[in-house]
Amino acid sequence: MQGVSPLDPFSPQAQAISALFWFVMVVAGVILLVVTGLVVYIVIRFRHREGRAPSTREGNTALEITWTAIPLLIVGAIFVLTVRTMHTVQPPAGDRTPDVRVVAHQWWWEVHYPSGVTTANEIHVPVGRTLLFRLTSADVVHDFWVPQLARKMDAIPGHPNDFWMKVEKPGVYHGTCAEYCGVGHALMRILVVAQTPKEFEAWEQAQLTPHPPPATAEARQGRQLLEQLTCANCHTVRGSSASGRVGPDLTHLADRRTLASGAAENTHDQLTQWLKDPNSIKPGSHMPNLQLSDARVKALVAYLEE
Ligand code: CUA
Repeated sequence: MQGVSPLDPFSPQAQAISALFWFVMVVAGVILLVVTGLVVYIVIRFRHREGRAPSTREGNTALEITWTAIPLLIVGAIFVLTVRTMHTVQPPAGDRTPDVRVVAHQWWWEVHYPSGVTTANEIHVPVGRTLLFRLTSADVVHDFWVPQLARKMDAIPGHPNDFWMKVEKPGVYHGTCAEYCGVGHALMRILVVAQTPKEFEAWEQAQLTPHPPPATAEARQGRQLLEQLTCANCHTVRGSSASGRVGPDLTHLADRRTLASGAAENTHDQLTQWLKDPNSIKPGSHMPNLQLSDARVKALVAYLEE
């Protein structure tokens, strides 16, 4: 996994936050040094000595003005820079249509695009465009955080929150839920896949393309199982009759890098294990263990991998 430090930013939004952090860090560091230095100096210089009485002098207007004015100036500067950063990171969205809508669930992310594409956990974005994200939650409060790309933002049921992101360099950026939301909190990962606008459009087109019917007998059986078993109550697979809206849309599951919101790599073995016993991969997952026979798991995997 690449670094995920907010101090290694790849968007103007994250850069503004990082710059403000460093400014405050340096100012606070200088204050720490000055105060510590003065305390050490005073302790040594004015320590107790035989026959010396402490000074009783009080009131020094010049000194009092100075030590009021300096903190005031520092806090004022931090205030002005903070307002400027907020303006860069979070300008009002007005009535602009969001470019990406994200709905947080226990414990995964549902992602919608204006083109009609619906996916989960892996958010594709074009580089060089300022994108408006609109975030909400289907159950409890979550928090969307991709440290290198954008500010943290709470996902609150019934209260959409907006934030902006302009990714400057193609790549895969990691994030996670940053608000404790239950058993699966730590395995509620986010992947942002930033692509050139051309690659992004190709991805979007591929996502919109319906599936051809399953190619093998095993995959056909898999589709039938998915439609007949309880899978279809929770999941949607466009091109089948499954249209549930509780769990992630699985239409293009095979194209995703991870399973269960980053809990496992999307490999044949992990997908098999996931269907056999979801809790072994992600404790607390709302995906039930359907006690599927090995043959059924194999058929479902064959279908999902197409
Ligand atoms: Cu969702 Cu923590």
